[in-house]
Amino acid sequence: MRLALFGARHYDRESFEIANQGFAHSISYLEPRLDADTAPLAAGYDAVCSFVNDRLDQRALEKLKEIGVRIIALRCAGFNHVDLAAAARLGLPVVRVPAYSPHAVAEHAAALLLSLNRRIHRSHARVREGNFSLDGLVGFDLYGKTIAVLGTGNIGATAARIFRGFGCQILAYDAYPDQALSAAGILSYVSLDEALRAADVISLHLPLSPETRHILDADAFARMKPGALVINTGRGALIDSRALVVALKGGRVGGAGLDVYEEEEGLFFRDMSNQVIQDDVLARLLTFPNVIITAHQAFLTREALGAIAATSLQSLADFEAGRPLQHQAPAPAG
Ligand code: NAI
Repeated sequence: MRLALFGARHYDRESFEIANQGFAHSISYLEPRLDADTAPLAAGYDAVCSFVNDRLDQRALEKLKEIGVRIIALRCAGFNHVDLAAAARLGLPVVRVPAYSPHAVAEHAAALLLSLNRRIHRSHARVREGNFSLDGLVGFDLYGKTIAVLGTGNIGATAARIFRGFGCQILAYDAYPDQALSAAGILSYVSLDEALRAADVISLHLPLSPETRHILDADAFARMKPGALVINTGRGALIDSRALVVALKGGRVGGAGLDVYEEEEGLFFRDMSNQVIQDDVLARLLTFPNVIITAHQAFLTREALGAIAATSLQSLADFEAGRPLQHQAPAPAG
């Protein structure tokens, strides 16, 4: 198939070129994000490949349909940036990569937690400046602490196993509890309220939906144990960022390790170091000594990139051959 891969970075090109040795797709790597304005670049292609911060709203989808695109392949798990109802109306199938490496994301959540708790970001900067003082670097043992894992799907379950390995007690919250995880003694399911009140650390692994948007808001922060740490490798808008700033200022939240940010679209995945950050909430978050932000890199391992490319290209080959699509994004209700 002729595939236009939007938002292409060198690591996408490398992984797709390797995976495409098993297929014979013709791939063009385009730098711009995919949205209604850039959609015309896909003229002459059968398929587009899109990433998390593209905007596939009705207007973008209509343009893609108009110029002959027949299928949309998301090279990610989340699909909150796609108007699936509009895609269904237009007869445009949307495939995704539901599980490429839960380990990549779960391990990044653990990395954020360890760095935040043990102040690795601060000590690294300090030692490079020749400052070998330990003042302000006191952390706590994770052993014996309680971690709330919100969302126990592929990634949350993997994170729970990792945290269990540190000797933590895991309290889990999920709309569809996985009884095998509780039967195996990895975690115990509790209500959201119980998880928030008891946890020393809260790690978010939920998809973004109207139900989960701002699941950590001012009210949730007020219910948390004072000083609890928050880790978010899910989606930025799971957290009300303004409320997080207030909770950090008041010490209610003891620190935050964020791989995602609710207004990251247009910022993340780009070098903005020559520009003034216009987003005051992000700018404020960056000033806290107890906040670590990575720019949506939790997925970025060799293994995950390889699996993303292979699954995406397989879906396109299946579509071309008229085989059933294994990884279609769920059809919207109604
Ligand atoms: P998954 O679909 O396997 O698990 C999601 C879990 O959330 C399920 O167990 C589901 O029952 C639960 N859930 C859904 N809606 C809920 C609600 N309203 N209330 C309570 N529980 C609810 O998804 P997976 O693979 O574990 O990924 C989770 C999220 O992580 C993705 O949706 C994506 O947004 C994010 N992600 C972030 C990446 C990064 O690089 N930072 C990379 C990959 C995924």
